[in-house]
Amino acid sequence: MGDFEKHVSSEYLKKSAGWHAEVKRESYAHMNLGAARSVLDAGCGPGLDLVPMAERMPEDGLVTGLDLSPDMLKVAEEILAESPAGKKCRLARGSVLAMPFAEASFDAVRAERLFQVLPQDSCPPAAVFAELCRVLRPGGRLVLVDVDWATVSVDFPDLDLERKLLRFFGDVCRPNGYAARQFRGWLARAGFTDLRVHSFPQFMESATDCPIVGWLAEEAKKRGVATDAEIDRWTGTLAGLAAKKQMFASVNMLVVSGTKA
Ligand SMILES: C[S@@+](CC[C@H](N)C(=O)[O-])C[C@H]1O[C@@H](n2cnc3c(N)ncnc32)[C@H](O)[C@@H]1O
Repeated sequence: MGDFEKHVSSEYLKKSAGWHAEVKRESYAHMNLGAARSVLDAGCGPGLDLVPMAERMPEDGLVTGLDLSPDMLKVAEEILAESPAGKKCRLARGSVLAMPFAEASFDAVRAERLFQVLPQDSCPPAAVFAELCRVLRPGGRLVLVDVDWATVSVDFPDLDLERKLLRFFGDVCRPNGYAARQFRGWLARAGFTDLRVHSFPQFMESATDCPIVGWLAEEAKKRGVATDAEIDRWTGTLAGLAAKKQMFASVNMLVVSGTKA
């Protein structure tokens, strides 16, 4: 995982789950959970999606959450213990590059905001996609959810600076920031049928906890992609606008799914 992932804590993921609630609900609807016996959430993080999926499944359904990070899995364990449907969930530690599951083990496989964090050299997206397909049974649903960082846009008075900093965010701060828009193509080329795509614009109106304000500024300063004066203008202007309830930024999240042939 890249250095930038230090910004993506379980606390941040809990907070952002509230912002993305509609996206998450849509992703569950793509999975045919009512008829599923066994489903996988690959890169489950703190496991916020495991109980909601278990609650939509039959009594004997089993949800597996897999993640590489022991810290994330520890939080997931605590969350599962708090809910009766947590008994229908199990956790596994491993890499999405080589998962400890037999082929065709799952009726549905889901991965949310996983691809954007995978370094393309050490965790090639094509290999991870193939691994997700391997563990999905024929006829099962694969559901990919991510932010398309090519679509981020901020109402900022200096267009050149806005484009430069947002390009830096998508190119560098996200190891694989443009994966989401490729999902449909991956599924189509792999022979998936019943392809579904939903796009959800996400609005960012607060400068606090907003990846393209604080995190971006810290990384841009460290890597020298803009002058200190430019970075201060970015954060200062956006914080000022937010204080007056006038900040506006948007980015699309995509939910893309298909049925394995
Ligand atoms: C941005 S978080 C998303 C977590 C969760 N899906 C959600 O939406 O709340 C990405 C997660 O992918 C996990 N991850 C990164 N590389 C991984 C790998 N190679 N194998 C398994 N998990 C990985 C990270 O530990 C992190 O929990």
